[in-house]
Amino acid sequence: MKIKGLVLSGGKGTRLRPITYTGAKQLVPIANKPILFYVLENIVNLGIKDVGIIIAPETGDAVKQAVGDGTRWGVDVTYILQPEPAGLAHAVKIAKPFLQEDPFLMYLGDNLIGADLRRFYERFITETPDAQILLKPVEDPSRFGVAEVDEKGRVKRLIEKPKVPPSNLALVGIYMFSPKIHEAIAEIKPSWRGELEITDAIQKLLDWNCLVLSDILEEWWLDTGKKDDLLKANTIVLDEWVKREVKGEVINSRISGRVVLPETAKVINSQIRGPAVIGKHVIIENAFIGPFTSIGHGSKIVNSSLEHCVLLDGVEVRNIERLEDALIGKHSRVIKNNSLPKALKLMIGDDSVVEIP
Ligand code: TTP
Repeated sequence: MKIKGLVLSGGKGTRLRPITYTGAKQLVPIANKPILFYVLENIVNLGIKDVGIIIAPETGDAVKQAVGDGTRWGVDVTYILQPEPAGLAHAVKIAKPFLQEDPFLMYLGDNLIGADLRRFYERFITETPDAQILLKPVEDPSRFGVAEVDEKGRVKRLIEKPKVPPSNLALVGIYMFSPKIHEAIAEIKPSWRGELEITDAIQKLLDWNCLVLSDILEEWWLDTGKKDDLLKANTIVLDEWVKREVKGEVINSRISGRVVLPETAKVINSQIRGPAVIGKHVIIENAFIGPFTSIGHGSKIVNSSLEHCVLLDGVEVRNIERLEDALIGKHSRVIKNNSLPKALKLMIGDDSVVEIP
Protein backbone atom coordinates (compact mmCIF):
# COMPACT_ATOMS: atom_id res chain seq x y z
CA MET A 1 0.00 0.00 0.00
CA LYS A 2 1.39 3.38 -0.93
CA ILE A 3 0.91 5.85 1.91
CA LYS A 4 1.63 9.56 1.57
CA GLY A 5 2.46 12.13 4.22
CA LEU A 6 0.72 15.48 4.66
CA VAL A 7 2.32 18.02 6.97
CA LEU A 8 0.36 21.12 7.95
CA SER A 9 2.74 24.01 8.12
CA GLY A 10 0.41 26.89 7.34
CA GLY A 11 -1.77 28.68 9.89
CA LYS A 12 -1.43 32.07 11.50
CA GLY A 13 0.31 31.19 14.76
CA THR A 14 -1.41 34.03 16.62
CA ARG A 15 -0.60 32.52 20.00
CA LEU A 16 3.10 32.77 19.34
CA ARG A 17 3.20 36.41 18.30
CA PRO A 18 5.41 38.38 17.91
CA ILE A 19 7.72 35.51 16.89
CA THR A 20 5.26 34.51 14.14
CA TYR A 21 5.07 38.01 12.61
CA THR A 22 8.38 37.36 10.96
CA GLY A 23 8.68 33.59 10.93
CA ALA A 24 6.77 30.34 10.74
CA LYS A 25 6.07 28.78 14.09
CA GLN A 26 6.98 25.38 12.67
CA LEU A 27 10.51 26.69 12.09
CA VAL A 28 11.06 27.82 15.67
CA PRO A 29 13.96 25.75 16.94
CA ILE A 30 13.82 23.23 19.75
CA ALA A 31 17.38 22.36 20.81
CA ASN A 32 18.43 24.44 17.79
CA LYS A 33 16.51 22.31 15.27
CA PRO A 34 13.23 23.47 13.70
CA ILE A 35 10.16 21.72 15.06
CA LEU A 36 9.20 20.83 11.49
CA PHE A 37 12.38 18.77 11.11
CA TYR A 38 11.39 16.52 14.02
CA VAL A 39 8.04 16.07 12.30
CA LEU A 40 9.66 15.16 8.97
CA GLU A 41 12.06 12.73 10.64
CA ASN A 42 9.16 10.93 12.27
CA ILE A 43 7.44 10.58 8.91
CA VAL A 44 10.54 9.54 7.02
CA ASN A 45 11.31 6.86 9.63
CA LEU A 46 8.09 5.11 8.62
CA GLY A 47 9.36 4.72 5.07
CA ILE A 48 6.98 7.30 3.57
CA LYS A 49 8.49 8.76 0.38
CA ASP A 50 5.97 11.36 -0.79
CA VAL A 51 5.35 14.26 1.54
CA GLY A 52 3.05 17.20 0.88
CA ILE A 53 3.62 20.31 2.97
CA ILE A 54 0.82 22.84 3.41
CA ILE A 55 2.22 26.37 3.51
CA ALA A 56 0.76 29.84 4.11
CA PRO A 57 1.43 32.85 1.83
CA GLU A 58 3.22 34.73 4.65
CA THR A 59 5.63 32.01 5.79
CA GLY A 60 5.67 29.57 2.87
CA ASP A 61 8.93 30.80 1.38
CA ALA A 62 10.77 30.42 4.68
CA VAL A 63 9.46 26.87 5.03
CA LYS A 64 10.51 26.08 1.45
CA GLN A 65 13.94 27.48 2.05
CA ALA A 66 14.45 25.48 5.25
CA VAL A 67 13.15 22.16 3.95
CA GLY A 68 14.09 22.31 0.25
CA ASP A 69 13.01 19.50 -2.03
CA GLY A 70 13.35 16.82 0.66
CA THR A 71 16.61 15.31 -0.67
CA ARG A 72 18.16 15.68 2.77
CA TRP A 73 15.66 13.15 4.12
CA GLY A 74 15.43 11.08 0.96
CA VAL A 75 11.82 12.08 0.26
CA ASP A 76 9.96 13.98 -2.44
CA VAL A 77 8.40 17.14 -1.09
CA THR A 78 5.44 18.84 -2.78
CA TYR A 79 4.40 22.27 -1.50
CA ILE A 80 0.73 23.11 -1.36
CA LEU A 81 -0.23 26.74 -0.85
CA GLN A 82 -3.25 27.35 1.37
CA PRO A 83 -4.35 30.96 0.75
CA GLU A 84 -6.15 31.24 4.12
CA PRO A 85 -5.91 29.14 7.28
CA ALA A 86 -9.45 27.88 6.71
CA GLY A 87 -9.10 24.75 8.84
CA LEU A 88 -7.40 21.38 8.96
CA ALA A 89 -10.04 19.76 6.74
CA HIS A 90 -9.66 22.62 4.28
CA ALA A 91 -5.95 21.84 4.10
CA VAL A 92 -6.80 18.23 3.18
CA LYS A 93 -9.26 19.48 0.58
CA ILE A 94 -6.74 21.61 -1.23
CA ALA A 95 -4.17 18.81 -0.98
CA LYS A 96 -6.44 16.43 -2.92
CA PRO A 97 -4.56 16.77 -6.26
CA PHE A 98 -1.42 15.68 -4.39
CA LEU A 99 -3.07 12.99 -2.25
CA GLN A 100 -5.27 11.60 -5.03
CA GLU A 101 -6.85 8.33 -3.89
CA ASP A 102 -3.94 7.25 -1.68
CA PRO A 103 -4.22 6.77 2.08
CA PHE A 104 -2.17 9.25 4.07
CA LEU A 105 -0.66 10.23 7.39
CA MET A 106 -1.53 13.79 8.40
CA TYR A 107 0.77 15.51 10.87
CA LEU A 108 0.39 19.02 12.32
CA GLY A 109 3.71 20.77 11.82
CA ASP A 110 3.88 22.18 15.34
CA ASN A 111 3.27 18.93 17.22
CA LEU A 112 6.11 17.12 18.95
CA ILE A 113 5.82 13.65 20.42
CA GLY A 114 8.24 11.52 22.41
CA ALA A 115 7.65 8.35 20.41
CA ASP A 116 7.95 6.94 16.92
CA LEU A 117 4.77 6.10 15.06
CA ARG A 118 5.61 2.57 13.95
CA ARG A 119 2.90 0.77 15.96
CA PHE A 120 0.25 3.35 15.03
CA TYR A 121 1.20 3.19 11.35
CA GLU A 122 1.27 -0.60 11.17
CA ARG A 123 -2.11 -0.89 12.83
CA PHE A 124 -3.59 1.31 10.10
CA ILE A 125 -2.08 -0.94 7.43
CA THR A 126 -3.30 -4.15 9.09
CA GLU A 127 -6.78 -3.10 10.16
CA THR A 128 -7.54 -0.71 7.25
CA PRO A 129 -9.86 1.72 9.06
CA ASP A 130 -11.09 4.85 7.27
CA ALA A 131 -9.53 7.01 9.94
CA GLN A 132 -7.19 6.47 12.83
CA ILE A 133 -6.45 9.01 15.51
CA LEU A 134 -3.87 9.31 18.26
CA LEU A 135 -5.12 10.18 21.73
CA LYS A 136 -3.44 11.40 24.87
CA PRO A 137 -5.01 11.58 28.35
CA VAL A 138 -4.94 15.22 29.51
CA GLU A 139 -5.97 17.05 32.67
CA ASP A 140 -8.04 19.73 30.94
CA PRO A 141 -9.87 18.01 28.05
CA SER A 142 -12.21 21.00 27.52
CA ARG A 143 -9.39 22.78 25.67
CA PHE A 144 -9.10 20.02 23.03
CA GLY A 145 -10.94 17.83 20.59
CA VAL A 146 -12.04 14.89 22.76
CA ALA A 147 -12.88 11.30 21.79
CA GLU A 148 -15.19 8.74 23.29
CA VAL A 149 -13.85 5.23 22.58
CA ASP A 150 -14.81 1.61 23.36
CA GLU A 151 -12.55 -1.00 24.97
CA LYS A 152 -11.02 -1.97 21.58
CA GLY A 153 -10.08 1.59 20.78
CA ARG A 154 -12.90 2.07 18.27
CA VAL A 155 -14.01 5.67 18.28
CA LYS A 156 -17.69 6.27 19.08
CA ARG A 157 -17.90 10.05 19.06
CA LEU A 158 -15.73 13.16 18.71
CA ILE A 159 -16.44 16.52 20.30
CA GLU A 160 -14.51 19.74 19.78
CA LYS A 161 -13.72 21.57 23.07
CA PRO A 162 -16.60 20.05 25.10
CA LYS A 163 -17.92 21.86 28.19
CA VAL A 164 -18.60 18.49 29.80
CA PRO A 165 -15.93 16.15 28.38
CA PRO A 166 -17.03 12.50 27.95
CA SER A 167 -13.42 11.36 28.55
CA ASN A 168 -9.98 12.80 29.20
CA LEU A 169 -8.67 11.66 25.79
CA ALA A 170 -7.51 14.57 23.65
CA LEU A 171 -6.72 14.35 19.94
CA VAL A 172 -3.03 14.62 19.20
CA GLY A 173 -2.31 16.32 15.86
CA ILE A 174 -1.46 13.07 14.06
CA TYR A 175 -4.02 11.20 11.98
CA MET A 176 -4.27 8.52 9.29
CA PHE A 177 -6.95 8.49 6.64
CA SER A 178 -8.26 6.40 3.78
CA PRO A 179 -9.45 8.38 0.72
CA LYS A 180 -12.98 8.16 2.18
CA ILE A 181 -12.10 11.28 4.19
CA HIS A 182 -12.45 13.37 1.01
CA GLU A 183 -16.11 12.36 0.72
CA ALA A 184 -16.66 13.29 4.35
CA ILE A 185 -14.98 16.68 3.93
CA ALA A 186 -17.20 17.40 0.92
CA GLU A 187 -20.22 17.04 3.21
CA ILE A 188 -19.20 19.30 6.11
CA LYS A 189 -19.77 23.04 6.65
CA PRO A 190 -17.47 25.55 8.34
CA SER A 191 -17.77 25.60 12.14
CA TRP A 192 -18.72 28.62 14.28
CA ARG A 193 -15.11 29.80 14.00
CA GLY A 194 -15.35 29.67 10.22
CA GLU A 195 -13.03 26.69 9.75
CA LEU A 196 -13.54 23.33 8.09
CA GLU A 197 -12.83 21.10 11.08
CA ILE A 198 -11.18 17.71 10.69
CA THR A 199 -13.08 16.51 13.78
CA ASP A 200 -16.37 17.22 11.94
CA ALA A 201 -15.15 15.21 8.95
CA ILE A 202 -14.18 12.27 11.19
CA GLN A 203 -17.54 12.54 12.97
CA LYS A 204 -19.16 12.32 9.53
CA LEU A 205 -17.30 9.03 8.92
CA LEU A 206 -18.69 7.80 12.26
CA ASP A 207 -22.20 8.84 11.22
CA TRP A 208 -21.73 6.67 8.13
CA ASN A 209 -20.66 3.73 10.36
CA CYS A 210 -17.11 3.75 8.98
CA LEU A 211 -14.40 2.25 11.16
CA VAL A 212 -12.43 4.89 13.08
CA LEU A 213 -9.69 3.53 15.33
CA SER A 214 -7.63 5.16 18.03
CA ASP A 215 -4.37 4.52 19.82
CA ILE A 216 -3.23 5.98 23.09
CA LEU A 217 0.09 7.78 23.11
CA GLU A 218 1.96 6.70 26.24
CA GLU A 219 4.86 9.12 25.77
CA TRP A 220 4.75 12.90 25.95
CA TRP A 221 3.02 15.17 23.46
CA LEU A 222 3.48 18.90 23.09
CA ASP A 223 1.71 21.33 20.85
CA THR A 224 4.30 24.06 20.58
CA GLY A 225 1.81 26.80 19.70
CA LYS A 226 2.45 28.86 22.87
CA LYS A 227 5.55 30.13 24.61
CA ASP A 228 5.31 28.00 27.74
CA ASP A 229 4.65 24.82 25.76
CA LEU A 230 7.58 25.64 23.54
CA LEU A 231 9.91 26.10 26.52
CA LYS A 232 8.59 22.83 27.92
CA ALA A 233 9.28 21.07 24.62
CA ASN A 234 12.80 22.48 24.65
CA THR A 235 13.30 21.19 28.20
CA ILE A 236 12.10 17.70 27.35
CA VAL A 237 14.07 17.43 24.11
CA LEU A 238 17.27 18.65 25.79
CA ASP A 239 16.68 16.28 28.67
CA GLU A 240 15.98 13.19 26.57
CA TRP A 241 17.83 13.51 23.31
CA VAL A 242 20.93 15.69 23.73
CA LYS A 243 24.35 14.10 24.10
CA ARG A 244 27.54 15.83 25.22
CA GLU A 245 29.56 17.11 22.28
CA VAL A 246 32.06 19.80 23.20
CA LYS A 247 34.16 20.88 20.21
CA GLY A 248 34.33 24.64 20.60
CA GLU A 249 37.00 26.76 22.18
CA VAL A 250 36.84 26.69 25.98
CA ILE A 251 38.99 29.23 27.82
CA ASN A 252 39.13 29.31 31.61
CA SER A 253 35.60 27.90 31.75
CA ARG A 254 33.68 24.90 33.03
CA ILE A 255 31.32 22.89 30.86
CA SER A 256 29.43 20.30 32.84
CA GLY A 257 26.86 17.74 31.77
CA ARG A 258 25.32 17.22 28.34
CA VAL A 259 26.29 20.29 26.38
CA VAL A 260 26.56 20.74 22.63
CA LEU A 261 29.23 23.28 21.78
CA PRO A 262 30.15 23.37 18.08
CA GLU A 263 33.62 24.04 16.75
CA THR A 264 33.00 27.69 15.94
CA ALA A 265 31.59 28.60 19.37
CA LYS A 266 33.75 30.20 22.04
CA VAL A 267 33.38 30.19 25.83
CA ILE A 268 35.50 32.53 27.96
CA ASN A 269 35.51 32.79 31.79
CA SER A 270 32.12 31.16 31.95
CA GLN A 271 30.20 28.17 33.13
CA ILE A 272 27.74 26.09 31.16
CA ARG A 273 25.66 23.51 32.94
CA GLY A 274 23.78 21.09 30.68
CA PRO A 275 21.58 20.01 29.22
CA ALA A 276 22.13 22.90 26.85
CA VAL A 277 22.68 23.45 23.15
CA ILE A 278 24.84 26.29 21.91
CA GLY A 279 24.71 27.37 18.26
CA LYS A 280 27.53 27.96 15.79
CA HIS A 281 29.61 31.14 16.10
CA VAL A 282 28.21 31.87 19.56
CA ILE A 283 30.33 33.82 22.04
CA ILE A 284 29.79 33.34 25.76
CA GLU A 285 31.88 35.55 28.02
CA ASN A 286 31.75 36.01 31.83
CA ALA A 287 28.45 34.24 31.83
CA PHE A 288 26.53 31.38 33.34
CA ILE A 289 24.36 29.25 31.05
CA GLY A 290 22.09 27.09 33.15
CA PRO A 291 20.24 23.89 32.27
CA PHE A 292 17.52 23.67 29.60
CA THR A 293 18.81 26.49 27.47
CA SER A 294 19.16 26.63 23.70
CA ILE A 295 21.16 29.45 22.17
CA GLY A 296 20.75 30.18 18.47
CA HIS A 297 23.59 30.58 15.98
CA GLY A 298 25.62 33.77 16.07
CA SER A 299 24.36 34.86 19.50
CA LYS A 300 26.46 36.66 22.08
CA ILE A 301 26.05 36.33 25.85
CA VAL A 302 28.20 38.62 28.00
CA ASN A 303 28.19 39.24 31.79
CA SER A 304 24.87 37.49 32.12
CA SER A 305 23.23 34.46 33.60
CA LEU A 306 20.49 32.54 31.88
CA GLU A 307 18.53 29.40 32.43
CA HIS A 308 15.57 27.63 30.82
CA CYS A 309 15.56 29.92 27.78
CA VAL A 310 15.22 29.59 24.02
CA LEU A 311 17.19 32.19 22.07
CA LEU A 312 16.82 32.28 18.30
CA ASP A 313 19.70 33.28 16.01
CA GLY A 314 21.76 36.42 16.45
CA VAL A 315 20.52 37.36 19.92
CA GLU A 316 22.64 39.51 22.22
CA VAL A 317 22.29 39.39 26.01
CA ARG A 318 24.53 41.69 28.01
CA ASN A 319 24.79 42.55 31.73
CA ILE A 320 21.62 40.70 32.67
CA GLU A 321 21.77 39.27 36.17
CA ARG A 322 19.23 36.56 35.61
CA LEU A 323 17.20 35.66 32.55
CA GLU A 324 14.73 32.82 32.97
CA ASP A 325 11.88 31.23 30.96
CA ALA A 326 12.56 33.57 28.06
CA LEU A 327 11.82 33.07 24.37
CA ILE A 328 13.73 35.65 22.37
CA GLY A 329 13.28 36.26 18.65
CA LYS A 330 15.97 36.61 16.01
CA HIS A 331 18.49 39.46 16.26
CA SER A 332 16.94 40.85 19.45
CA ARG A 333 19.11 42.51 22.06
CA VAL A 334 18.53 42.41 25.81
CA ILE A 335 20.98 44.78 27.43
CA LYS A 336 21.35 46.43 30.80
CA ASN A 337 23.13 49.71 30.46
CA ASN A 338 24.50 50.76 33.84
CA SER A 339 25.19 54.29 32.74
CA LEU A 340 21.51 54.96 32.14
CA PRO A 341 19.28 56.24 34.95
CA LYS A 342 16.83 53.71 36.35
CA ALA A 343 14.58 53.83 33.39
CA LEU A 344 13.78 51.07 30.92
CA LYS A 345 14.69 51.82 27.35
CA LEU A 346 12.78 49.55 25.03
CA MET A 347 12.15 48.91 21.40
CA ILE A 348 9.74 46.02 21.28
CA GLY A 349 7.71 44.51 18.45
CA ASP A 350 3.93 44.27 18.50
CA ASP A 351 2.39 41.77 20.94
CA SER A 352 5.64 41.37 22.87
CA VAL A 353 5.66 40.64 26.58
CA VAL A 354 8.16 42.17 29.01
CA GLU A 355 7.93 41.06 32.64
CA ILE A 356 9.85 43.16 35.12
CA PRO A 357 10.34 42.24 38.80
P1 TTP B 1 -3.31 25.75 15.01
O1 TTP B 1 -2.21 25.83 16.01
O2 TTP B 1 -4.59 25.23 15.47
O3 TTP B 1 -3.56 27.16 14.30
P2 TTP B 1 -2.57 28.36 14.01
O4 TTP B 1 -1.26 27.90 13.48
O5 TTP B 1 -3.32 29.31 13.13
O6 TTP B 1 -2.22 28.99 15.44
P3 TTP B 1 -2.99 30.00 16.40
O7 TTP B 1 -4.14 29.21 16.98
O8 TTP B 1 -1.95 30.36 17.43
O9 TTP B 1 -3.41 31.18 15.59
O10 TTP B 1 -2.82 24.84 13.79
C1 TTP B 1 -2.22 23.60 13.97
C2 TTP B 1 -1.23 23.34 12.87
O11 TTP B 1 -1.87 23.25 11.60
C3 TTP B 1 -0.19 24.42 12.72
O12 TTP B 1 1.04 23.81 12.39
C4 TTP B 1 -0.69 25.26 11.56
C5 TTP B 1 -1.44 24.26 10.71
N1 TTP B 1 -2.62 24.78 10.01
C6 TTP B 1 -2.64 24.83 8.61
O13 TTP B 1 -1.66 24.46 7.96
N2 TTP B 1 -3.77 25.28 7.99
C7 TTP B 1 -4.89 25.68 8.68
O14 TTP B 1 -5.88 26.08 8.04
C8 TTP B 1 -4.84 25.64 10.12
C9 TTP B 1 -6.02 26.08 10.93
C10 TTP B 1 -3.70 25.19 10.74
